[in-house]
Amino acid sequence: MNFLNEIAGEYPNAISFASGRPAQQFFSLAHWLAQTDRFISHFAQSCANDFEVASSLIGQYGKTNGIVNELIAQQQLRDEAIACDSSQLIVTAGCQEAMALCAMELCKRPSDVLLVRSPTYIGITGIADLHGIELAPFRSEKDSELLPALAATVEQAERCGKSPRALYLIPEFDNPTGTVLPKAYREQVIAYCARKRIAILEDNPYGAFRFEGTAVPTMYTLDTSGCVIYLGTYSKTLCPAVRVGFILLPRRLFGDERATVDLRERLSRRKSFLTVNTSQIMQAMLGGVLLEERGSLARLIQPAREFYRRNRDLMLTALAAEFPQGQSIAAWNVPTGGFFLNVWLPFKFLRAEAEICARELGVLTMPVSFFAFDDGHDQCVRLAFSNVDPASIGEGIKRFATFVRMRAGKP
Ligand SMILES: Cc1ncc(COP(=O)(O)O)c(C=O)c1O
Repeated sequence: MNFLNEIAGEYPNAISFASGRPAQQFFSLAHWLAQTDRFISHFAQSCANDFEVASSLIGQYGKTNGIVNELIAQQQLRDEAIACDSSQLIVTAGCQEAMALCAMELCKRPSDVLLVRSPTYIGITGIADLHGIELAPFRSEKDSELLPALAATVEQAERCGKSPRALYLIPEFDNPTGTVLPKAYREQVIAYCARKRIAILEDNPYGAFRFEGTAVPTMYTLDTSGCVIYLGTYSKTLCPAVRVGFILLPRRLFGDERATVDLRERLSRRKSFLTVNTSQIMQAMLGGVLLEERGSLARLIQPAREFYRRNRDLMLTALAAEFPQGQSIAAWNVPTGGFFLNVWLPFKFLRAEAEICARELGVLTMPVSFFAFDDGHDQCVRLAFSNVDPASIGEGIKRFATFVRMRAGKP
């Protein structure tokens, strides 16, 4: 994240494929803020107060677990086919707080470890680092290698006297890889984790942005054993500044309803000392938008999804033009949604290479090594297509390809 801020600050005019931010031209802040009153009226009815009193209550300290839980539950049902009760939800300050609370609560003993794929999202790595949580990373290039790699890592940790307590995964349009974990492998992982009593933290910020193909059910809906904790956010569907996300607990954690209640209380207690409650003003804004949209964000995000799909296509077309077959010094994946794709090169692409691209060619990229725990992704680059002007994509890829050809000795 520091690298991203540094190079973005140093080369403000460069074409950036580095940042995975959502496209801000789709933020309707004034309109969304105006929906706050809609929620306050709704809130007034639910607590039998008039608008003025309800409005002052929104300005007060509030319920630790949130005030828009019912509306979030409705939206999850309509948009993600996730059926839940509002009592299973804890509203958080973005997904980042959701991840932090879960990681801290589930891995609180010194022997507890958190399992992560390598590469993975740096947000979880940073939490582990800050809170002294031991990570057990594992690598799996192919989906078929995921379960064996996970099981080997769990066994190794257990042999060292450790207790793997949770597994962090982004099964839908992963950050940084852009990949989707197919249903059969999701089921395998769930079955294994249920057997080993390992909680799965399913992080799904990009799932709403599918461009084609049929949706894969979330791990949360596939889970019948109560091992999946689902983490959601409105950072990409509305905007990051809303800072509203949530933790959705299974109805019966590992088959035990009481265990869910206990975990909710422990998470809630932790949150009460961390952020007290999620900003009620921002919850009211989200609540107003959800009321206006009648519980589904599908209509609202459609233009942004179309923009991301078009940008992905422009990027793929530009890559194919710059690296024609036969002269294939680069290979890339074709994500069916989300914000990112990965390009593999015949040489290492690390911080130094990203800096040369920025300084000499005016194009910003993210080495996947920043997200990895070993050198297995040293030749891989993450290109984000979510927040770049479509008119610059061709030029940006051309500059990147110039560097690649130069470095690969194929001018
Ligand atoms: C995989 C993943 N999880 C979580 C987040 C953070 O989400 P939030 O803004 O809700 O804290 C991001 C942000 O980029 C992300 O890529």
